[in-house]
Amino acid sequence: MIEIRTPRLLLRRWRDDDLVPMADINADPQVMRWIDDGSVRDLEYTAEAIERWEEEWDDEGFGLFAVELLASGELAGFTGLSVPESLPELAAEVAISWRLGSQFWGQGYASEAAHATLEFALQDRGLDRVISVVRIGDEASENVIRKLGMALEREIEHPVYGFPLHVHAIDLTEFDG
Ligand SMILES: CC(C)(COP(=O)(O)OP(=O)(O)OC[C@H]1O[C@@H](n2cnc3c(N)ncnc32)[C@H](O)[C@@H]1OP(=O)(O)O)[C@@H](O)C(=O)NCCC(=O)NCCS
Repeated sequence: MIEIRTPRLLLRRWRDDDLVPMADINADPQVMRWIDDGSVRDLEYTAEAIERWEEEWDDEGFGLFAVELLASGELAGFTGLSVPESLPELAAEVAISWRLGSQFWGQGYASEAAHATLEFALQDRGLDRVISVVRIGDEASENVIRKLGMALEREIEHPVYGFPLHVHAIDLTEFDG
């Protein structure tokens, strides 16, 4: 069972009792503002999503970690790795992404979890490259990306929604873990 501890966080696989807190996060318009078309998601969607994320762990040996606060045991959201299948031109890549409940923003948790995720990608999975894909305007994500040392590679168009996306990448052989 893969678990990672950082100074303040536990990154782990998903449990049944994560469903309600993750559904609350997915139901918050502030959180969903920059994700796909910005629409909020319900409990049923979240249940299916968690199932998919767990399948990706089983199939690929990587996935989205549930991010838990060590101090309180609360679920803060997710950070982790996935194949960006909804973006066919990037289907051969592995992308890092994050989503935290808004009450957990501004405390450095996303960067702490993302840093540990890149270490996991390099050390446990032997990946030499990870990308990130964010909608242009998502400044909070761009800030995390900068702090991780990821570099802007190109701009692409979302195949369904048409809006522009930034693709950043990092060569993990040069990652300052
Ligand atoms: C993107 C997202 C995860 C970023 O979260 P965040 O809390 O802003 O990111 P960070 O973890 O980097 O923390 C930000 C700030 O916390 C502050 N902070 C407070 N205590 C801190 C600590 N102990 N250590 C580090 N930073 C700390 C810092 O000031 C930092 O800002 P700075 O880099 O300008 O100095 C969050 O906005 C989110 O979940 N958004 C919705 C989902 C989304 O849009 N995902 C993108 C699609 S991939």
